[in-house]
Amino acid sequence: KPLMVLNGPNLNLLGRREPEIYGTDTLADVVRLCERTAAPHGVTIDARQSNHEGQLIDWIQEAREHHAGIVINPAAYSHTSVGLLDALSACDGLPIAEVHLSNIHRREAFRHHSYVSAAASAGVIVGCGVQGYAFAVERVCGLLKTPLS
Ligand code: DQA
Repeated sequence: KPLMVLNGPNLNLLGRREPEIYGTDTLADVVRLCERTAAPHGVTIDARQSNHEGQLIDWIQEAREHHAGIVINPAAYSHTSVGLLDALSACDGLPIAEVHLSNIHRREAFRHHSYVSAAASAGVIVGCGVQGYAFAVERVCGLLKTPLS
């Protein structure tokens, strides 16, 4: 089964959007990095991005049945969406890693809390830029080989 890499709103603009915060790498660069990281583990990447909360929820429900794990940057919905939290919480047993490019704890107070983190069974990576996606993919691939008890 592939690993789903989900990106939320405005991340289609990555590389052009506030580059002083999010860097100059594009979403296509992120996807290539994920693929390169997963390949040695024999894992393929199914990468998707949407600006729409309901679309992300539909894809999480799809991942529940058809994917080995989820790496998700929920972007702004991290801070607002009980719907995303509930969808991820319904994926019991799937390793889920949450990624934020920026260190949300060094930013505005409204970014300090993520609803999604409560469902991030494989951990949360913040403030490592695009490298955070590689860490998350590495982490989930490792858990697929050696699950935590
Ligand atoms: C983000 C942080 C969020 O607060 C913000 O809304 C984003 C990107 C990050 O990757 O640093 O869109 O998730």
